[in-house]
Amino acid sequence: MCGIIAYTGSRQAAPILLAGLRDLEYRGYDSAGVALLPEAGSEPAVAKRRGKIAELDGAIGEHALPAAHTGIGHTRWATHGSPSDANAHPHTGCGSDVVIVHNGIVENYAALRAELAGRGHAFDSETDTETIAHLLEERLDAGSDLLAAMREACARLTGSHAIVALSPREPGIVVGARIGNAGGVVVGYGKGEMLLSSDLAALLPHTREVAFLADRQLVRISGDRVDYAGLDGSAADVVPRTLSLDPASADKGAYDTYMRKEIMEQPAALADTIGGLMTVEPPRLSLDDLGEARPWLERVERVLLVGMGTSLHAAMVGRWYFEQIARLPADIDNASEFRYREPVLGPETLVVSVSQSGETVDVLEAMNVARASGAPQITICNTPGSQTTRVADGTVHTYAGLERGVASTKTFTTSIAALFALALETARVRGRISEDDLARHVRDLAAMPEIVGRQLESFDAIAAAAERFRTTDHILFLGRGPALPIALEGALKMKELSYVHAEGYAAGEMKHGPIALIDSGFPTVALAGQHALRSKIVSNIEQIRARDGEVLAVVTEGDDELIALANESLTVPSVPALLEPLAAIVPLQVLAYATAEARGCNIDQPRNLAKTVTVE
Ligand code: M6R
Repeated sequence: MCGIIAYTGSRQAAPILLAGLRDLEYRGYDSAGVALLPEAGSEPAVAKRRGKIAELDGAIGEHALPAAHTGIGHTRWATHGSPSDANAHPHTGCGSDVVIVHNGIVENYAALRAELAGRGHAFDSETDTETIAHLLEERLDAGSDLLAAMREACARLTGSHAIVALSPREPGIVVGARIGNAGGVVVGYGKGEMLLSSDLAALLPHTREVAFLADRQLVRISGDRVDYAGLDGSAADVVPRTLSLDPASADKGAYDTYMRKEIMEQPAALADTIGGLMTVEPPRLSLDDLGEARPWLERVERVLLVGMGTSLHAAMVGRWYFEQIARLPADIDNASEFRYREPVLGPETLVVSVSQSGETVDVLEAMNVARASGAPQITICNTPGSQTTRVADGTVHTYAGLERGVASTKTFTTSIAALFALALETARVRGRISEDDLARHVRDLAAMPEIVGRQLESFDAIAAAAERFRTTDHILFLGRGPALPIALEGALKMKELSYVHAEGYAAGEMKHGPIALIDSGFPTVALAGQHALRSKIVSNIEQIRARDGEVLAVVTEGDDELIALANESLTVPSVPALLEPLAAIVPLQVLAYATAEARGCNIDQPRNLAKTVTVE
């Protein structure tokens, strides 16, 4: 979950590393640090601080860093050891012969630490990471070069890891390794310089030519050379690719927060995604990266969608699409549960994973389980080249651009659009949809960017409705049918941003327990679209009102009955029922945003969270 950046080349490394850390801060913000390797022979200079990058900047101001053309940096989400200066990365061994940054958990660290201590190693931190530095130090002392030392140290580790190291013994060299699914290592190819990072965000200001390390791969970079190897010592041939991502999408632009910018970018992100997957005239789907998964669309008997958090909620919407449009049995599963359940599946089941980052450990492990079972796989992903796209047989790309707010917004709506396109393609190849219906669905989806854009013109008016939640402790979000995932996502956005306890519930569950919570101090947000279950939600609202509960209803424009029934309402435009999730989530994103703002919360960096979850 931590962010990693490394640079070697002709420019000064320190400003590049610090800017990179600011670009990566969404990965973790407990502590941060850098290590610089001045010219040959001198020791690495390490600066690290508990807290956000601003604290590190302050610390560096006090003790200016030396000039150096090689360095590594890290922003941490604590796993072993509290956030402190000592536990911040980078870490060294006993001396300064090697410096490392790390993402992952050394599962056998207690045994390794005891073993290393027994050989005289003294530890400066409580972290599991420091054991890796001491292992590397021993291998360097034994005569290995840095790449070989990394390979030998990795062989001693259990768990998943992304590790980056430098050593004054090899000036101008940085070595990286990836084992398992603790996060990516992306290699950035510059002119006379090379970079490594956990994510694209820190590389895009410098280059769009990148390569992703595969599982159990190592890389050694210098200013003008890159070598890849397998952990087994074999040479590896890795071809970089040029991305079309725009570095400008990494900026906040005129907005105070990334999240507000990303909410406002949804019309463009949707238009780009839809435009990348279909044409309206003539109505034609162009899911060009389905690869080896394509023939399976016709053969499979069921679909299983997996994801985590917001992406799981998008998957829940996708289940509706596969059932309603393709008439194919569809289930969803939380990837972290699925992977441990010994699920029963095989080639008859198409597994569709949803992940904006393509690096979420639970999703990747679920995909490994699916692969071992022989199930064909498609991933819906916003990060080209990421691990889910490498494991899956085919990919449906979303084109939302970089998402930097920890709370996902534009990648939620674009994932839904991609799932809609995949369900249409599945229906088409299975002969379950007429040309006219296909054309209608394509037109309906293509109209959504403009509709969402019109909704966002009322951002401030929607935000005003959040005033009632400024002092509340609890909120219930209710939905049915395709609105249930939106209720769950609305509650997730509210709790992660504003720290208000929010529960998303299937409205039909109310009388089975949750209605006991309702009194005049327990507000409900009820999602009441035009879908077939609208009348049931009307009953729920009546029952809540009869118990003095306060209801904020999200209703279709012109639904005067519901507007009169609820205490307050937010309207969404009338759209086809299957596409209501795309319209209904917009006011809930804005409500959560405005509630968090009113409560003085850090919107882009909510407490305890990191954007990409790469450790269990
Ligand atoms: O990168 P992924 O889509 O796989 O991430 C999964 C979840 O961690 C993520 O959706 C998370 O729930 C959201 N950022 C919350 O807003």
